[in-house]
Amino acid sequence: MPLVTMRQLLDEAAKGGYGVGAFNVNDMEQIQAIMMAARQTKSPVIAQASRGARAFAEDLYLFKLIQAAAELNPDIPIAMHQDHGNSFETCKSAIALGYTSVMMDGSLKEDGKTPSTFDENVDVTRRVVDYAHERGVTVEGEIGVLGGVEDGHGAGGSGLEHITDPDQAVEFAERTGVDALAIAIGTSHGAYKFNKKPDGSVLKMDVLIAIHKRLPQTHLVMHGSSSVPKELQDIVNEYGGKLKQTWGVPVEEIQLGIRNGVRKINVDTDNRLAITGAIRKVFAESPEKFDPRDYLKPAREAMAKVVAARMTEFGQAGHAGDYAPIPISEMAAGYKSGSLDPRPSLAGTR
Ligand code: 13P
Repeated sequence: MPLVTMRQLLDEAAKGGYGVGAFNVNDMEQIQAIMMAARQTKSPVIAQASRGARAFAEDLYLFKLIQAAAELNPDIPIAMHQDHGNSFETCKSAIALGYTSVMMDGSLKEDGKTPSTFDENVDVTRRVVDYAHERGVTVEGEIGVLGGVEDGHGAGGSGLEHITDPDQAVEFAERTGVDALAIAIGTSHGAYKFNKKPDGSVLKMDVLIAIHKRLPQTHLVMHGSSSVPKELQDIVNEYGGKLKQTWGVPVEEIQLGIRNGVRKINVDTDNRLAITGAIRKVFAESPEKFDPRDYLKPAREAMAKVVAARMTEFGQAGHAGDYAPIPISEMAAGYKSGSLDPRPSLAGTR
């Protein structure tokens, strides 16, 4: 099956009332782990690469791995997504490689650190939307700013500093025409999101619900949504790691989000923890081993287990075979004719 667009996956998820996990990839073992989980749970897949991943793996290696995954798994729809594009050029280069979806994170300036103004965000995102939609490619935008830093991208600080204003979210969706909208509700990238189980004072599900009420047709995206389970922290620490105790986003809060318009859920940290725990275990228990396969295989299995659990919890399990892929040229024609125009003012007219 050719790669499908993220827009199609999210439209289908909205029809079915479920969410789709977007899992970060940097190497062969990670895409294999995602596909193992997708086969086991019969799930559609969003694989995503940050700029850091593209640099680490080299663009062509990484993209060919995704193509291999699609070729080897013809029954599973896969969208390949640029995570946190920092500029028009980054998005353009991902589209040139064959990515079927890009995130233009205009909430930060091109340095990937400094919060931008609302108008700067609208301008660069709109430019990417025009370019991508002409080619049938999906665009995710971000309004509000996530906390923390991931792969060198992020404003740092707490997730509470730039919570999304629901009225601004509506204006942003209307002026940019993004297919999916990432919002800031107190989450941050990385392991250290909350210093106790989050409640409504730090995880603003009320803001998410308010945005969904104003934008009922818009696909919302939760970033920084690893749950950072204690079991994964404990394995890392049991075998010599030094993680401080921390809390992520509870799965039940993500499920509440899914009931309120969340269609894409970004998960990276949980997989990093699973991989690191599995590798540390082999190193600690079998220090005589030196064949990378001896620790990469359990690492891959540990990640597949986490991904399969999330696919089931987000509700995407069982939905891989629901639909045939829409060719990207047809998506381009749909944007051109207006039938796929995602602007909220057109909702109900399509
Ligand atoms: P986590 O660090 O919570 O896994 O978030 C990943 C993410 O949002 C990637 O964009």
